[in-house]
Amino acid sequence: MNSAPEVVCEALSRRFPNGVCALDKISFRVPSGGLTAIIGPSGCGKTTLLRIAARLDQSTEGQIRCVSRDGTPMLPRAGQLAVCFQEARLLPWRTALENVALPLELAGVDRAERRMRANRVIHAAGLDGAQQRMPAQLSGGMRMRVALARALVTQPSVLLLDEPCSSVDEFTRMQLDEEIRRLWQASGATTILVTHSVSEAVFLADTIIVMEHGRVHATHTVELPQGGRDRTSLAFSQEVEFIMRTLACAAGVARR
Ligand SMILES: Nc1ncnc2c1ncn2[C@@H]1O[C@H](COP(=O)(O)OP(=O)(O)OP(=O)(O)O)[C@@H](O)[C@H]1O
Ligand SMILES: [Mg+2]
Repeated sequence: MNSAPEVVCEALSRRFPNGVCALDKISFRVPSGGLTAIIGPSGCGKTTLLRIAARLDQSTEGQIRCVSRDGTPMLPRAGQLAVCFQEARLLPWRTALENVALPLELAGVDRAERRMRANRVIHAAGLDGAQQRMPAQLSGGMRMRVALARALVTQPSVLLLDEPCSSVDEFTRMQLDEEIRRLWQASGATTILVTHSVSEAVFLADTIIVMEHGRVHATHTVELPQGGRDRTSLAFSQEVEFIMRTLACAAGVARR
């Protein structure tokens, strides 16, 4: 049984000292092991939300918390919550393997086990053979794979992804989406994915939240089987079209 917590966001608000209200009483739940995508226009508060979820920023009101299966609040320990940002943010002086192993090193895991666990997740991320390469010797897509592998090496139960595929071309993005789905399914982590790509959201998520101006505009359940989502199918196109319309509607609300 999946032991990943539920992520519960309750009336979360964030007002910055300059008066910008980035989040305005936002509420939603991501079930244990679920993957919720958050999509919405630039500046609507997606990164702010993820930063608060990752404890890198604080809310001004409300909270986002993890709740374990038996309903008790849970504060993720180091390594149980992982974040992957838009840029890979690798250490340029360390090899791919050493970058992936870094969170284990910081957690005091011994060298042999670090190598073993880092190699396992590198294999899962499709990076076999790239272990000894430096970040500058990797393509953009490979660097993102290393960043994903680094996020997953501690076997987190909560995974926060902020536009992990935004800096790569469409074909690489589709390949990375396959990796993300495989890695997410294997880890069982409760995942929040921020993306600007409707097709990526429909491909990966079981629930899509459309945001506008710091609020939830709509929540949509993707009615496609998780196993084999086919981007060329009619059902897939219909889901994409529905989200596109919802986004257009959200933009209309924002302009009013
Ligand atoms: N530290 C800060 N101080 C003041 N305002 C901020 C700060 N961080 C973000 N903002 C503002 O909060 C709002 C939401 O920003 P955020 O980065 O969360 O948007 P986003 O939805 O992630 O946008 P994008 O899709 O472009 O990444 C924006 O108006 C932004 O200018
Ligand atoms: Mg952002």
